[in-house]
Amino acid sequence: MKGPAMRSCLELIKPYEPGKPIEEVERELDLTDVIKLASNENPLGPSPAALKAVVEQLPRLHYYPDMHSHRLREALAKKYGLDMDMVIVGNGTDELMTLVALAYLNPGDEAVIAQPTFAEYEFAVRLMGGVPRFVPLAGEEFRYDLHAFAAAVNERTRLVFICSPNNPTGTIVRREELERFLDSLSPAVLVVLDHAYIEYATDPSHPDGIDYIKEGRPLLALRTFSKIYGLAGLRIGYALAPPGVIAALNRVRVPFNVNAAAQAAAVAALADSEHLARSKALAERGRRQLAEGLAQLGLKAVPSEANFCFVDLKRDARPVFEALLRRGVIVRSGHIFGYPSYIRVTCGTEEQNHRFLRALEEVLAG
Ligand SMILES: Cc1ncc(COP(=O)(O)O)c(C=O)c1O
Repeated sequence: MKGPAMRSCLELIKPYEPGKPIEEVERELDLTDVIKLASNENPLGPSPAALKAVVEQLPRLHYYPDMHSHRLREALAKKYGLDMDMVIVGNGTDELMTLVALAYLNPGDEAVIAQPTFAEYEFAVRLMGGVPRFVPLAGEEFRYDLHAFAAAVNERTRLVFICSPNNPTGTIVRREELERFLDSLSPAVLVVLDHAYIEYATDPSHPDGIDYIKEGRPLLALRTFSKIYGLAGLRIGYALAPPGVIAALNRVRVPFNVNAAAQAAAVAALADSEHLARSKALAERGRRQLAEGLAQLGLKAVPSEANFCFVDLKRDARPVFEALLRRGVIVRSGHIFGYPSYIRVTCGTEEQNHRFLRALEEVLAG
């Protein structure tokens, strides 16, 4: 059928490849008891307080949600010691990345992005006809090379995306190097610091974007309820930034972007520090268990500060990924990140990690 041509910049957008859903794998491979260690979700699930808050919302679903997410923004502002006009809530942080691009990129504007990293930065940039400038992470440990980042910045650069801890490597940017980099930037550049996994980081040199926002720097910190808070299915995340940046994002945000159940669950989840601590401790144990188990198989995981491990299988990872699927274990194959010999595996429960390691051992042996 002939029809209007879509915008030419959209031709450069590659479709997102999500982790395979459990139901799909069970249906397609006729399996039961499939485990998903593919999307860095919390194996403990949501906080019971969040679930209760969702149930309490159900009789009120005929009302539109609060389009300003007032209660949640108030709770977040209090938690971080910021004013409420420094907080915006989104339908997942994915939505907020798109809002950043909508608000700040004209066609041809540039954005600096690490490689490998989370695919949605490139999506957001391309959506606006922007130009991504990719900077490889350095060495076998996939370190952020902020000198190379600085070298990639030019007068067309509007955005710099830094994901710390980084997906898919689990590596971090250090406070000192980030501060030197921020000092080198023109105020016309907005730094987007994606902290989707910050709650898992234990390295004391990990920076917290809030410190720089309080200094009034042009920086936006992204955080999500999808990972440690276990609410990925509700789609809710938030950004913290100076008021002018948040006001720009609000100009391009649709009303009612965040549903009422998600808002209520997030308020309750924030207050449940015990669930947070348990989730963090589980991920820390999981990182150790996976690193040790992988070492016993002769494999070395990239040192991770997040709830997942990136590991080089030293062979094409795709057939391994498929053989793991047939054993009911879903991981992520590195080809989607441009690293075809790697897999990324989420830290599950002790039992799930054990099952993954056993399945991997069988696959590698066979
Ligand atoms: C680094 C990073 N940022 C953001 C997201 C998306 O989070 P949300 O579910 O809040 O859209 C993910 C999800 O995998 C991620 O890995």
